[in-house]
Amino acid sequence: MDNSEKQINELISGMTLEEKVAMLHGRGFFRTRGVERLGIPELVMSDGPMGVRNQFPDDCWIPIGNSDDYVSYLVSNSALAATWNTDRAYDSGRILGEEARGRGKDVILAPGINIKRDPLCGRSFEYMSEDPYLISTMAVPFIEGVQENDVAACVKHFAANNQETDRLMVDTVVDERTLQEIYFPAFRAAVEEAGVYSLMNAYNKLNGFHCSENKTLLDEILRDKWKYDGTVISDWGSVHTTEEAAQTSIDIEMSVTTDFDEYYFAAPLIKAVRDGKVPEACIDAKVRNILRMMLRLKMIGNDALSRKQGVYDTEEHRRVILAAARESIVLLKNEGNMLPLTMDKLKMTKVSLAESHNEIAAPRKKKIAVIGKNAECRHAAGGGSAEIKALYEISPLLGLKSALGGNVEITYAQGYYIPGDKDVNEVNWQEASLERRIMGEEAPTAVQSEEQRKLREEINANRLKLKNEACDLARQSDIVIYVGGLNHDYDVEGRDRADMRLPYGQDELISELLDINQDTIIVMVAGSAVEMPWLNRAKALVWCYYSGMEAGTALSDILLGRVNPSAKLPETFPAVYDDTVTAKNGEFGKEKSIEYKEGIFVGYRYYEKEGIKPAFPFGYGLSYTSFNIEEMKLDMVSDSISSDLSDICVKINVLVKNTGAMAGAEVVQCYVSDCECSVERPLKELKAYKKIFLQPGETGRLEIELPYSAFAFYDINSKEFVVEPGKFVIYTGNSSDNCRLSEEIRLI
Ligand code: BGC
Repeated sequence: MDNSEKQINELISGMTLEEKVAMLHGRGFFRTRGVERLGIPELVMSDGPMGVRNQFPDDCWIPIGNSDDYVSYLVSNSALAATWNTDRAYDSGRILGEEARGRGKDVILAPGINIKRDPLCGRSFEYMSEDPYLISTMAVPFIEGVQENDVAACVKHFAANNQETDRLMVDTVVDERTLQEIYFPAFRAAVEEAGVYSLMNAYNKLNGFHCSENKTLLDEILRDKWKYDGTVISDWGSVHTTEEAAQTSIDIEMSVTTDFDEYYFAAPLIKAVRDGKVPEACIDAKVRNILRMMLRLKMIGNDALSRKQGVYDTEEHRRVILAAARESIVLLKNEGNMLPLTMDKLKMTKVSLAESHNEIAAPRKKKIAVIGKNAECRHAAGGGSAEIKALYEISPLLGLKSALGGNVEITYAQGYYIPGDKDVNEVNWQEASLERRIMGEEAPTAVQSEEQRKLREEINANRLKLKNEACDLARQSDIVIYVGGLNHDYDVEGRDRADMRLPYGQDELISELLDINQDTIIVMVAGSAVEMPWLNRAKALVWCYYSGMEAGTALSDILLGRVNPSAKLPETFPAVYDDTVTAKNGEFGKEKSIEYKEGIFVGYRYYEKEGIKPAFPFGYGLSYTSFNIEEMKLDMVSDSISSDLSDICVKINVLVKNTGAMAGAEVVQCYVSDCECSVERPLKELKAYKKIFLQPGETGRLEIELPYSAFAFYDINSKEFVVEPGKFVIYTGNSSDNCRLSEEIRLI
């Protein structure tokens, strides 16, 4: 037993049962008790993934409202994943850790690493991707970045939490291989590669048992197989029993109600131990996991005086956020090089004399119409527990105006009407969800039909008015930029979207704008895919996930060509919802039990198997320059001393050439296809990628390694990942459906 374990055991042996149990449950919404007598501090937590959440009193969901909890607003996880740049992930984690520590937190409840299985999932914006490899490779450096600040990352929500509908009770039924190949890998990487200090269990049931009390999940897989020795924290209100949960590997019960001493892991747990129903050793094991985390965080022990102090709202943090935001914006269409809007396209024109009758007439400024509420909407304060009290947030409109100055005339029109539009700052999400739970109703009751009719009329009238204003403005302008999409009324915790369509009549508005000006530039801001029925007619389409406090700066940099887009979709965008696997399974709005019938065929694995052509494939994204990925060479490398097959790895060598006129970055993606296998496997799976920055005309060489594990599948008989000998094909390209280079190899 090493020294720290000895210290931990000594501490535990000096504690009373009450003191131990006090450490196992919330005594405030975001804190647990310490043991002052023994110098054990309380544990202080905070959401969340996009920045450190504002300060709440211990027993009330209305924020304190001081001015000292404004923070840097980071790019969302979906935006981060779109960068396909692990350095950006590390930097984001690092500044989040620094801010969390700066705000005095011990645990930051991030990152969210669930699989984006269904585009309608309300929390899609908080998650990274549909692909377990991409999530793993982004999550690991993110966690490392957080934790080097003596703050624990808390990966969530373990496991298979992929919808919000009925999220507290729904039973997800998922087979073992699918869990191991799709839903577990990012959590496993967080544990085994990043050494994450804490993990949050999901609300849902998994194969019949609540995740908080799921022995297969927490005992067998997490603790025994992955050797996790960190802390397991319950999602808020996800514990359902005292005795069962206490005898499962979950350590801390957090919840949303104020009866802290009545939590399952509070007075009832003390009683259960006293009655002999729960062995005290179970309590000790939990306290041990918490103390181990505290030691690692330098909250206790010899290193406590050297614990990092953190800092928040620094200029460097803003730079990191801007860099990530710039790399997260995906250029999806750019026919006829509509973009970028170079200064040449925007410069003033001389007014001809005939037009002005005046020799000294001022030149005519270019008129840009910026249309759509998302151009001036700020999103930080919405979304549920990921909400942020941002120090500031640059909207797209502000970004464009501040970048273009006074020689261009930019006019804004809201374009679409948002019924009951409330300032997100006025809505307290967690309080509302709590009230709904107490009242026993999840959704607001329907309004009376007469009222409903009036409301509809009002909505239509407002919609028409705003649409007409926007269309008039478009007619009078040289350039039209539409900025729409979703917002946190749709990308929100606790509720899934009802369909994949754009809300607020945007499709109609966009179509009309395209009628008026066929060159209308379309910008979508959203956390996951939407149907775009006007897609064929749009020449330029730009996709922004929620991209933090510098979102508007980054967008204007991309639109104006000051930055060359280099993001790639971390998920497939299906053309219509009916093409998705969840639609095929007939799952929409399903409660109680959901069987993941598609198994491992999630995201592009599904679309490729079924031959469904999506609107945009996984890994897709354009640039203002062009690249050639050429000359792929494979090398099988093995450690000659070792006879262990798992020491073999395949080295891929590719040349990438920037064949265009602008410096830029390309993401080279490597997919593996198993051609001879005893079980069905996806047509191909992402197993490596690298981003390379190149000057115009420059050629770069990339070396990408595929470890032996890249060829493995999960074998349910041996309960291990195995590689079956035979033929494999390695594909290389710049999106899942554009892999022009391929090579065969044989593994024996
Ligand atoms: C969410 C978690 C969050 C927690 C604390 C829960 O409703 O699912 O992601 O960390 O609340 O706010």
